Amino acid sequence: MRVLITGGAKELGRAFSEVLGAQGHRLVITGRDEKALDAAEAELKARGVDVSAHVADLGDPDATPKLIESLGGIDVLVNNGALGGPVGPTWQVDENEWWHTFEVNLRGTAFAANAAIRTMTSGRIINVVSNAGVHRWPYVTAYSVSKAAVIKLTENLAIELKHRPIAALSYDPGMVDVGLMRRGATMESDDPDQQRISEWARSQRDAGRFTPLEQSVDLLARIVSGEFDHRSGGLITPQDG
Ligand SMILES: NC(=O)c1ccc[n+]([C@@H]2O[C@H](COP(=O)([O-])OP(=O)(O)OC[C@H]3O[C@@H](n4cnc5c(N)ncnc54)[C@H](OP(=O)(O)O)[C@@H]3O)[C@@H](O)[C@H]2O)c1
Repeated sequence: MRVLITGGAKELGRAFSEVLGAQGHRLVITGRDEKALDAAEAELKARGVDVSAHVADLGDPDATPKLIESLGGIDVLVNNGALGGPVGPTWQVDENEWWHTFEVNLRGTAFAANAAIRTMTSGRIINVVSNAGVHRWPYVTAYSVSKAAVIKLTENLAIELKHRPIAALSYDPGMVDVGLMRRGATMESDDPDQQRISEWARSQRDAGRFTPLEQSVDLLARIVSGEFDHRSGGLITPQDG
């Protein structure tokens, strides 16, 4: 299948790319960081993966949709790219940074999904979300609220798509020891709000609440394969693995 993974060159997205590439899917990966994209493309190609890497900023409402349209149809969209957003009491953080997190995490995800749905005949949209969008994550509200909105968007899309062979699923990969959570757990900061988040992340990791990366990536691969299409609109979590 032809799978587009936003943020597919780094961290969790990179792990997704490696496993999906090894399974023989044809990959298109995006992000903002051209160097990282070029490196990921070269490394994946060296392992025999059919992959092309493209700079596409999810903060630009046209970039990812234009890319998807230029591809003339994909089978699966993995909306993985996202920002962690500002940390601190909501009324004190930079409001432009707070709002930009929605532009990337919500609008970027929604517009990529729209373009994929307009051009695909069948397949699935997989929106990577977080437990922070189900419960809460005080002091990280742009991230938490934007992920909650993506979960609700996915539920609505699934109903709108019910007469087409396209599934829409939310996927919470669990807390994994890469990317956002690893940075959270290892961060050194003098800022008390950052410290609070960092201590919480360490406490979760030390209590064994992290999901092993391999498990998280394997479950994503099963969703990509169509195994969970019957749950279109729903949220798949590590417990489903
Ligand atoms: N790590 C965890 O434990 C965890 C837990 C729950 C959910 N998640 C979710 O999993 C996904 C990946 O998380 P992560 O931990 O790997 O995060 P990360 O380390 O911050 O990586 C974010 C990825 O998104 C891309 N990205 C960020 N802003 C972008 C933009 N404006 N346009 C295009 N790409 C952009 C980045 O690539 P560039 O820098 O090249 O743009 C990078 O590939 C996210 O959706 C996150 O919410 C992660």
